[in-house]
Amino acid sequence: MSAITITRCVCQRMPFTVLAPLARERGWTLDDVMRETGCGDQCGLCQPYLKRMLATGQTEFHEVLWE
Ligand code: FES
Repeated sequence: MSAITITRCVCQRMPFTVLAPLARERGWTLDDVMRETGCGDQCGLCQPYLKRMLATGQTEFHEVLWE
């Protein structure tokens, strides 16, 4: 079992399972996600996760991602 599970932007309390379909539907880039939802635009710690989510559709992470 993994020690960490990351599933959302903590600052905006926004689950990646909600963000991913929205982003796919609207063709959002990371900048679009940040502008439209505020996710990634506060502490910024979720940005690497948002990037991977946008690239792969993954919504649950069990590792620490850096830039
Ligand atoms: S966790 Fe997403 S901006 Fe802070």
